[in-house]
Amino acid sequence: MVVRPYRALTRLWNLPYFLPTKWRGWIKMPTLEFKGKQHIYAHHLTVPYSPLVPDPQRSHPPPAHVADSGPVSEDNLIIHGDNLRALKALLPRYAGKIKCIYIDPPYNTGNGGWAYDDNVNSPLMQAWLKDNGPVDNEDLERHDKWLCMIWPRLQLLRELLAEDGIIFVSIDDNEQHHLRMLLDEIFGESNFVASFVWEGTAKNDARFVSVGHDYIHTYAKSVDRVKTNSGRWRVLKEGIEDIQKCVEVLKERHGDDYQSISMGLKDWYKSLPRNHKSWQHRHYRCVDSEGVYFPGDISWPGGGGPRYDVLHPVTRKPVTVPAGGWRFPDEEKMRAAIQANRVHFADTEVGVPNLKRYLHETTEQVLTSVFYQDRRAAHQNLRRIIGDIKFEYPKDERVIGRLIETVTSNRDIILDSFAGSGTTAHATLALNKVDGGNRRFILVECEEYADTITAERVRRVIGGVLGTKDDASRDGMGGSFTYCTLGSPFDAESLLSGDSLPKFETLAVFLLYTAAGLSLEPKALRTSRNGQRFYQTKTIDFYLYYEPNIEWLRSDKAMLTPERAKKIKKIGRPAIVFGAGKYLSQHNLTDMGIKFCQLPYELFKDG
Ligand SMILES: C[S@@+](CC[C@H](N)C(=O)[O-])C[C@H]1O[C@@H](n2cnc3c(N)ncnc32)[C@H](O)[C@@H]1O
Repeated sequence: MVVRPYRALTRLWNLPYFLPTKWRGWIKMPTLEFKGKQHIYAHHLTVPYSPLVPDPQRSHPPPAHVADSGPVSEDNLIIHGDNLRALKALLPRYAGKIKCIYIDPPYNTGNGGWAYDDNVNSPLMQAWLKDNGPVDNEDLERHDKWLCMIWPRLQLLRELLAEDGIIFVSIDDNEQHHLRMLLDEIFGESNFVASFVWEGTAKNDARFVSVGHDYIHTYAKSVDRVKTNSGRWRVLKEGIEDIQKCVEVLKERHGDDYQSISMGLKDWYKSLPRNHKSWQHRHYRCVDSEGVYFPGDISWPGGGGPRYDVLHPVTRKPVTVPAGGWRFPDEEKMRAAIQANRVHFADTEVGVPNLKRYLHETTEQVLTSVFYQDRRAAHQNLRRIIGDIKFEYPKDERVIGRLIETVTSNRDIILDSFAGSGTTAHATLALNKVDGGNRRFILVECEEYADTITAERVRRVIGGVLGTKDDASRDGMGGSFTYCTLGSPFDAESLLSGDSLPKFETLAVFLLYTAAGLSLEPKALRTSRNGQRFYQTKTIDFYLYYEPNIEWLRSDKAMLTPERAKKIKKIGRPAIVFGAGKYLSQHNLTDMGIKFCQLPYELFKDG
């Protein structure tokens, strides 16, 4: 692997200075070269489309709400299959519509836990990967293979992402530096948001350094659009509820003896483990009739503030003035603050007073790029939900939930194409339960356990898990999902022979996406008996002469005939017509404002 800047462009030494700032990054950006890159560079375009095939028995609740005829619109999806094909299958319906992507791909640790077996259509690639097996430490090209695997998937994920969407990618030191360069190249350096560092465990047996963290690289599809649409990112402070509960218990014990309550609160903080969510708020250590507060700075920001006498409420002597002078510009404003009970006095006049900062006034906080969440908790939680199964490295649904909460709202769609134990679905359902949202999830998992672990966890989370601590998990989060597999890919041969013919709606949705770049749910199609017009935009009508029946397709019924063309012309709007053939010359069609696209060849035009 070598890092090579776009030399030809940068040699035009002053070119970047004539460009808008956001484009300069692209011009000067170094890129990562790796074996196979030229062959997989456009591989995402050549992956064939496959329809999603619903499996009513594995869907939830089974089987009534899932018809055999196509995935239920507006439902959550769990797709069993390779994510390269699955992402391509999602494009016609979901391109540009996914608000949040979270993925947790294999980390390429060298323990042989994954294999690179994409069927790349290049003799050189096929020769290279001929005797391919699990990628382990012995494999000197394991980084190249991982990069070949992730590149086309990231390309498709980017296409699925909404303009104001965000992608989070978990990774560790094995590939994080390579991944950053790839993400820069695919999403643009200027769309990098942050790399979270998640500290999860300490390994005391490490030879040199105990590395207990991994990363979550975060990119926007367009940082500018995110700034315009969502403003600032804030999340609710975690651990606040426990503090309030503790204070309630102390109040019952001590009545309105706030000194004893404050002492009790301090003792409670001391008893907490360091990773307890309330520990980070331990500076909120005082309590009065208004609530819990921390004694904050009362001096003039930057110093040089006014100095006047303020009497201590008990000793009636002037208190020590802070070195920077008072925060309040005059005595009257200070008196008002004291009357409103906003000033915390020390025991005697010797101490400098403080300003009370109440916990309930600042319930939101900014995300921090470094955080701690013990990894073992996710294992234990998964075991509680699904029993004693072997699944290594589940992520913690609270952490993923926080990311989703930050960047999505009510009806947004969340996608995880390396779903594993289904943490992302769990986090989405839990968040909906808390805020009454209608977020949807799409999961993709290639292993057999897509049903027995991924979907099973989601079934249990929806229905409720006995023996769990919190009410929401015990009672169940509610919801449903459609379980799908991937049908045979659309390829010209099977369409021509009639071996594998998609349903009308499936084909129509694919055609709209490939021909016009429109992504739609099948229910948005407006089929009409008027010559099979199936969709209209403001300016164009779309027609399709098709039935999933080879005899029908070989008959005149599948053709654009002069009679049909005349009817279309009579409507007086430009039209795109898909059919098996036509009985009119190109010249006639152009005169009539009709563009004809022949099936099945039109399907494979963009690869
Ligand atoms: C590290 S695990 C993800 C764990 C998940 N975040 C959780 O919390 O349970 C990666 C998952 O991606 C799946 N996977 C790997 N390659 C895949 C592919 N090409 N298509 C679909 N799933 C894939 C693996 O089978 C594995 O379950």
